[in-house]
Amino acid sequence: MFENKCILTGVKPTGKPHIGNYFGAILPAVKMANEAARFNLFIADYHAINFMKDAEVLQREIKEIACIYLAAGLDPKKHYFYRQSDIPEINEITTILYAFTPKGFMNKSHAYKAAVDKNLEAGKPTDDGINMGLYTYPTLMAADILSMDTDIVPVGKDQIQHVEIARDIAGAVNAYYDKELLKLPDYVTAADVAVLPGIDGRKMSKSYNNVIPMFEDEKVIKKAVYSTVTDSRPMEEPKDPDEIIVYQIYKCLAPADKVEEMAAGLREGKLGYGHIKAMLLDTILEQTKDAKQVYDYYMAHYDEVRGALEDGASRARPFAQRTLARLKETLFGNL
Ligand code: TRP
Repeated sequence: MFENKCILTGVKPTGKPHIGNYFGAILPAVKMANEAARFNLFIADYHAINFMKDAEVLQREIKEIACIYLAAGLDPKKHYFYRQSDIPEINEITTILYAFTPKGFMNKSHAYKAAVDKNLEAGKPTDDGINMGLYTYPTLMAADILSMDTDIVPVGKDQIQHVEIARDIAGAVNAYYDKELLKLPDYVTAADVAVLPGIDGRKMSKSYNNVIPMFEDEKVIKKAVYSTVTDSRPMEEPKDPDEIIVYQIYKCLAPADKVEEMAAGLREGKLGYGHIKAMLLDTILEQTKDAKQVYDYYMAHYDEVRGALEDGASRARPFAQRTLARLKETLFGNL
């Protein structure tokens, strides 16, 4: 479906993922990589500094996110895996795009509006704590996308608008010079990916504090699994599996026959909450064991990761250089 398309996605380094991120976003992205003609995945480190100034934390999170994608099976030789800050042309392109970006686009951007709403709710001044990086971030994101001649950006719902902004800016540049200087990007939403419930039954999310972590010690994972909310009904009472959070999580991870085994046990009153939690823990450990090993290896041998990222940047950079050259040639000619 994406045989002749360039797919691009950026990830912010925001700490270790939980199993919801891993199975719901990271693994599907790696799978999609193998379906594209060209797949770019970059670490959005310039975006990250808008939110994280603590250099130690920032560096740890960049390191972690890089290792996580390798642990998930992304092949850095086959795909373009790089750090945004290793491709300076992206920032030069951003400067050019600023001149074609109506300020109103930035005012309307979700990321900025969400920050404003949060301020207003807290009774603070509208722009309290909002830096220019956050305000203008859709333009940098447009440069991330347009620099690489991207066809498709896979997005969650919150990012659709940002891709539309990139498309609009590209359209404005092309229309002004009456040339296809920039490729117009599209987005796809990953609608078919299951949303994993968290241990309280709401969507698994760091902001709800209801996550099951991974890439952590077994006892940390166990503690989260065993904190999954259950009621006080006795084992013998037949239960509807779909009402039970442990089962809902299990269903997203375990093979079909094991899922059926748990469902039957609950319906027939033969499995208690302790049993099903143990089954869930086993499945999680089993399904994350290999990735954790690769992750630990790369965290301990980061020079190899750095090498892979540098190689990715050196292969991706010519795309950005060509895009910038097209723009500069059109704007400034041979001056
Ligand atoms: N804005 C994205 C996020 O918050 C990260 C990102 C930066 C991105 N540049 C991008 C995603 C370009 C897709 C394409 O998750």
